[in-house]
Amino acid sequence: MEIKKDYKLNDLIDIFNENNQGFVFDKSSITSNEFIRYVYVENEEPLGYLVLYPKSDFAIKENYDVKVSIPENSIYIWHIITKKGHERKGVAKTLINFLKNEYKHFNIYSIVDENNSPSNHLHKSLGFLPVDKFKKAYKDTLETYTLVKFQN
Ligand SMILES: CC(C)(COP(=O)(O)OP(=O)(O)OC[C@H]1O[C@@H](n2cnc3c(N)ncnc32)[C@H](O)[C@@H]1OP(=O)(O)O)[C@@H](O)C(=O)NCCC(=O)NCCS
Repeated sequence: MEIKKDYKLNDLIDIFNENNQGFVFDKSSITSNEFIRYVYVENEEPLGYLVLYPKSDFAIKENYDVKVSIPENSIYIWHIITKKGHERKGVAKTLINFLKNEYKHFNIYSIVDENNSPSNHLHKSLGFLPVDKFKKAYKDTLETYTLVKFQN
């Protein structure tokens, strides 16, 4: 297993299409220079990826109605998706632990949709705690989101 940066972006688009489950948006971040991709690779095959937005203005960029202030040295997990059929093997956990190590001196934020049970469990199990809650409309539905922050 290796974690590679910006590896096989077309495969990441396939992973997004097959397994976003309506919880992950903005496919264009997979190819945009504003973001960094970390890819979990086994035998040259991407089995999951994380898109990092490496700046602290993520809440404005995402149009999130958060009341807490976000410190300067903050980064944000824009996407995290494991390839369909490869869940519960530690892919997402490995990617997030890699991020924690690479960005030791940063505040790491992520967002959890209250209806996304795997994501809720994943973030809780890796030490992310709620810092704010807000609603946002996607398509026809109003979803409740929790902003979570890694407590290092
Ligand atoms: C959420 C997601 C990224 C998790 O990826 P994963 O590679 O399956 O997660 P891991 O195997 O690394 O799980 C690590 C821990 O998270 C928790 N977890 C992950 N999926 C879970 C589930 N379905 N139910 C309960 N706990 C879960 C467990 O504590 C797990 O540890 P364990 O397997 O030892 O019990 C994956 O389900 C996915 O791609 N979902 C669709 C896209 C999405 O919703 N992304 C998140 C947006 S915030």
